[in-house]
Amino acid sequence: MFQDPHYDDHQRTVSVYDAESGLRAVIAIHSTALGPAAGGCRLWSYDTADAALSDALRLSRGMSYKNAVAGLPMGGGKAVILGPVPPERRDAVFTAFGKAVESLGGLYITAEDVGVTEADLAIVARNTRYASGVAMRGGIGGNPSPFTARGVRIGIEAAVRLALGRTDIEGLRVAVQGLGGVGSNLCRELHERGARLTVADIAGRRVEEACDLYSAQPADADDILLAEVDVVAPCALGSAITADVARTMRAGIVAGAANNQIAGDEAGRILFERGITYVPDYVINAGGIIVVTAEYLGAGDRGEVDRAIDRIGDRTSEILERSQAERRPTHDVADRMARAIIARAGQRGSATNPA
Ligand code: NAI
Repeated sequence: MFQDPHYDDHQRTVSVYDAESGLRAVIAIHSTALGPAAGGCRLWSYDTADAALSDALRLSRGMSYKNAVAGLPMGGGKAVILGPVPPERRDAVFTAFGKAVESLGGLYITAEDVGVTEADLAIVARNTRYASGVAMRGGIGGNPSPFTARGVRIGIEAAVRLALGRTDIEGLRVAVQGLGGVGSNLCRELHERGARLTVADIAGRRVEEACDLYSAQPADADDILLAEVDVVAPCALGSAITADVARTMRAGIVAGAANNQIAGDEAGRILFERGITYVPDYVINAGGIIVVTAEYLGAGDRGEVDRAIDRIGDRTSEILERSQAERRPTHDVADRMARAIIARAGQRGSATNPA
């Protein structure tokens, strides 16, 4: 673990095994300097256990940065459950996972991520107090995807204003890769405002649905990143923007929901050098954790959550402007900003446990 490229002095990493259900999971707690480590739980079939650990380490650091830049009183953590989980064991696996989260006494707060549904979270929440994204009350809570999508749309609008000098997105050409919870809601947000969509997903029925509902054009799942559009919005899994993609893509803006969407520093640098505006993923996709945090803390109403998500626009503008002024890639500007916030909180010795 200590040699993993994504290990970053993580505060704690827990491996979980439950013989009865067959649960195998990793819970990575990157930092609790700002508050309990909050971040979703992903269910994925990894090639190796090392790959699962690596994903948990990378995603949990991303959550620390996301929560810090979003101004939330939360640290960063993430859980991954090693799939596949057969349907008949799903209940037992999420029950065991809930108990594992509970055993950490509030150091880690879980929610949905890729492969985990609201129904799964309901099982988790029966076994731990430390789960959010469970139920909608007063217009907030439950599945965070629509809130994430709203924030992504607001971030795209801010990037379009700065990079293209446009004040609306009528007729803007956007390519959306991945039409799951966030991608499909993003299509709706953009379509309602007159954007022209190109879409791709490895699940054909999702493509058909988006074409029907939002007059989108279908594209091949691999080629969509190279489409001749104004904005590419990666909303599938991480590392979509490799150095090669960065070198060859034709869009002027990359702004989507997927966590860890640039494969590494090199890809981010190439985008910057080519004058392609990249909105750092954890800045633009914070809408979900904003609502998950409000639900968990029982603080704020729909209006407050919406206003907090609106601020993603200002943050996007600030990071893009600083990137220009400091001549640094946007991901570097955002990372420095996040690390400074976490370091300041660490010096103050903030809370480590909400319980
Ligand atoms: P999801 O699991 O609902 O949807 C992912 C979609 O991507 C699926 O339709 C899948 O078929 C498709 N897909 C997978 N590989 C693909 C490929 N190579 N090409 C095209 N499509 C592909 O996941 P969700 O919740 O929509 O999340 C999407 C991304 O956004 C993930 O990276 C997630 O970590 C990130 N994210 C999600 C948040 C949320 O509120 N759900 C919050 C912040 C980030």
